[in-house]
Amino acid sequence: GAPVEVDIAGMAPGELRTVEWRGKPVWILKRSPEMVAGLPKLDDQLADPKSQRNPDELTPEYARNEYRSIKPEYLVAVGICTHLGCSPTTKLQPGAQPSLPEDWQGGFLCPCHGSTFDLAGRVFKNKPAPDNLQVPRYMFAGDTKLVIG
Ligand code: FES
Repeated sequence: GAPVEVDIAGMAPGELRTVEWRGKPVWILKRSPEMVAGLPKLDDQLADPKSQRNPDELTPEYARNEYRSIKPEYLVAVGICTHLGCSPTTKLQPGAQPSLPEDWQGGFLCPCHGSTFDLAGRVFKNKPAPDNLQVPRYMFAGDTKLVIG
């Protein structure tokens, strides 16, 4: 499939866009400074906080960091659950769902069997999904253009 170009100019902090790439939904989340600052605090609640599992398939080298991304403020991830392939509900706020823990900082919930993911697409412990969400191949072309694929 051809790479997909996305104009990210004017994305607001907290905004999420979904684009299609190779028939899959890809999420682009512009994380706020608070969202970025919250990521390291979750490490001990996550199954694979450093994205060490299956890195060749799931986490390109430039995303093997605290944020799973090239730039801390932009998450780029395939919006397909690593359990059985449902599409998680996007960017849930605290209190959005009764099944979420009280200290939930926002993230993604898979409606099929309840896997939860943080704002870096990292899966929480003791969930059916075995792995973090896939980070696709992507790059920035200038400040306002993202190229996926
Ligand atoms: Fe997402 Fe099962 S498909 S938890």
